[in-house]
Amino acid sequence: MYILAIHGSPRKNGNSEILLDTFIKGIFQALKDFSNRFEVKVEKIRLPELNFSPCKECGGCEVKKECVVEDDFKTFLTPKIWNSDFLVISTPIFFYSHTSYVQAFFERFQAFWVRKYVWKLPHPLEKVPKGILFSLGATKGAKLFEGLIRSYKYVMDAIYGNYVGGLFFRGIEKKGDILKFPEVLEKVQILGKEIILLPESSWSLNRELCP
Ligand SMILES: Cc1cc2nc3c(=O)[nH]c(=O)nc-3n(C[C@H](O)[C@H](O)[C@H](O)COP(=O)(O)O)c2cc1C
Repeated sequence: MYILAIHGSPRKNGNSEILLDTFIKGIFQALKDFSNRFEVKVEKIRLPELNFSPCKECGGCEVKKECVVEDDFKTFLTPKIWNSDFLVISTPIFFYSHTSYVQAFFERFQAFWVRKYVWKLPHPLEKVPKGILFSLGATKGAKLFEGLIRSYKYVMDAIYGNYVGGLFFRGIEKKGDILKFPEVLEKVQILGKEIILLPESSWSLNRELCP
C-alpha cells in the first residue's frame, strides 16, 4: 500500500502540516503495534517546495494522451499519483477555498481527466485510489469546506478513484494554534491507525459535502 500525503500550505510547520504529520504518526503507530505486518509506504510532499505550473490549457494532453508540460508535476508527482492507493491532501482554507498551490495541483489533473473521458483509457496500474482531506480555517463559516470538497471529488474521479471523506476544523488561525486542541490531533491520529487496521466503513471520517 502506497500513501501519498500532500501538504498545500506555504506556512511550513503550520496547522495543516501538523495535522498531516499527526495522521502519518497514527499510520506508523498502527504498523509498529502490528510488528510491521502490513507493507505500507508513506511519502509526504510539500507542494510549495516543488516547481510546477497550473494547467496551461495548451491542449497537449488531448493529442498526446498525457500532459506535455515538463515540470515537477509531470516528472516527479505523476508517477507517485498513479502509484498511490491513498491520496491525502492537507490544506488550509484561503478565501473559502484551498490554497493556490493545491489549485495548481488540481488543475494538472485535467490531463488525467482527458485520459479517462476523452481517450477512454484505464488507470495505468488498474488502481482505485481513495482520497482523504484534512482542512482548517480561522473562521466558523458554515460552508467553509464545501468548495474544496466539491473540487476534490472531481479530482479523485479523474484518477479513477473516490473521495472517501475528511476531517475539518474551524477557528484555527495562528501558526501552531492546532496544538491547543489535543482532541483534534487525537482524532487525526486515530484515523491514521484506522485506515491501516479497519475496513473503510469503520473509518472515523466526515463524509458530508458541507461538513
Ligand atoms: C491568504 C489567506 C486567506 C485566508 N482565508 C481564509 C478564509 O477564507 N476563511 C478562513 O476561515 N480562514 C482563512 N484564512 C486563515 C487560515 O485558514 C488559517 O490561518 C489556517 O490556520 C492556516 O493554516 P496553516 O498554518 O496550515 O497555513 C486565510 C489565511 C490566509 C493567509
